[in-house]
Amino acid sequence: MNSAPIGVFDSGVGGLSVLREIRQALPNESLMYVADSGHVPYGEKSPEQIRERSRSIARFLLQQGAKALVVACNTATAAAVADLREIYDLPIIGMEPAVKPAAQATRTGIVGVLATTGTLQSARFAALLDRFAGSVKVITQPCPGLVEYIEQGELDSPRVRALLQTFTQPLLSAGCDTIILGCTHYPFVRPALQSLLAPGITLIDTGAAVARQLQSRLVTLDMISAGPARPCQFWSSGDPQALSCVLPTLWGELGSVELLPFGGAKVL
Ligand code: DGL
Repeated sequence: MNSAPIGVFDSGVGGLSVLREIRQALPNESLMYVADSGHVPYGEKSPEQIRERSRSIARFLLQQGAKALVVACNTATAAAVADLREIYDLPIIGMEPAVKPAAQATRTGIVGVLATTGTLQSARFAALLDRFAGSVKVITQPCPGLVEYIEQGELDSPRVRALLQTFTQPLLSAGCDTIILGCTHYPFVRPALQSLLAPGITLIDTGAAVARQLQSRLVTLDMISAGPARPCQFWSSGDPQALSCVLPTLWGELGSVELLPFGGAKVL
């Protein structure tokens, strides 16, 4: 059982930024990854649609023998993690924008959050602010259109930079010195973003924290694998070839990708 794989999913390639952190923290664990690229972006979908997709993907990963699940998507966590935890009896790790560490890091007392519309509008995000923002002012900024470029492996082009400039401008004007990358796709444009910002601006994401949380859950439950890890298995509900093409850049290795055997793009 301990050598069983960990199932990780996202609306597309964004969760690979989390998968990389998991691989680094837990090199003996076998990993499986589902990119729901046939339905990306989740950011503009209704919570019901995202719950439906998340349930189907979780069921699939369980059928493939997953011992634990990581919802490597802030938007899907906001819409579906509570639902998944009610339905499925295995450890499920979700992720949310790093409001707590950002509130501790800011010196100006003003923090910006880049995330999807779905995350920013969710009750879970409102509760997160209530719990951790304290006296810190939080300015939120949805980033429509950005995920689509990242899906194609376009991480630092003039049009990506133009979008990043548009989205960060209101945060900088408001006096933010700390910006939360509240979507798992965004760490992939971190170098482009950093080069547009003054050196004093701190960017924070949650991938490494999620990997640590997964590790501590597995340790507590005595579910850590002794290894060796098998090569990561990938599925996409979009074009498997497209995911294969971006794997060397976004995952750092080649990988074979299969078509997810249910729920192609026409379902929604
Ligand atoms: N990567 C996802 C997140 O962390 C969502 C991107 C999208 O599909 O809109 O929120």
